[in-house]
Amino acid sequence: MLRVVVLVSGGGTNLQAIIDAVDNGEITNTEIVGVISNNKNAYALERAKAKGIPNQCISPKDYETRAEFNDALLHAVDEMKADLLVLAGFLVVIPEKMIEQYRNRIINIHPSLIPSFCGTGFYGLKVHEAALEKGVKVVGATVHFVDEGTDTGAIILQKAVAVEKGDTPELLQRRVMEQAEWKILPKAIDLIANDKLEMIDGKVWIK
Ligand code: GAR
Repeated sequence: MLRVVVLVSGGGTNLQAIIDAVDNGEITNTEIVGVISNNKNAYALERAKAKGIPNQCISPKDYETRAEFNDALLHAVDEMKADLLVLAGFLVVIPEKMIEQYRNRIINIHPSLIPSFCGTGFYGLKVHEAALEKGVKVVGATVHFVDEGTDTGAIILQKAVAVEKGDTPELLQRRVMEQAEWKILPKAIDLIANDKLEMIDGKVWIK
């Protein structure tokens, strides 16, 4: 069984998609062993509680230095004996030590087709605002491994979504979630849990 820890900051709809996919068998060989939020008010924590999944808040605000927060975060995932860390709307920079220790065992969902609308400053609604501002007609979401850069790690899965006339950032965000994020994030976890991915020259392929 793949032991998954999900890291969240907000509403947790991607966490919910993972929980539902484990329940309905779309994700196999997987146990969600913990949920960590940096924000104590994140609704994602309620979703974990409702499901009886061990959950905790580890907030930078509760530590004097960033280094102490980083140590606490790493300690928490180590304690849970995580095989895979899933960043599901986790808006915290991952400590380098954690990236090294969990190399190719941390995945992130990003609400655009990387390399468009990604990197520093592109998160949440800002991504969709930028896409509408540019006038692109196709957007989407990406699941990728996490490396030292921002949204630069090897791409695992992507799914495209059409922009529609009259879209607002909120409408577009919702459509990208429904049509792309909630599908490809559970799918990526299932592929990893069942050893269906391989890395060739730094690029990820389905075996
Ligand atoms: C999702 O759209 C996710 O792709 C995005 O935050 C949202 C979290 O929603 N992540 C990023 O922008 C990371 N750069 P959720 O809490 O409902 O899953």
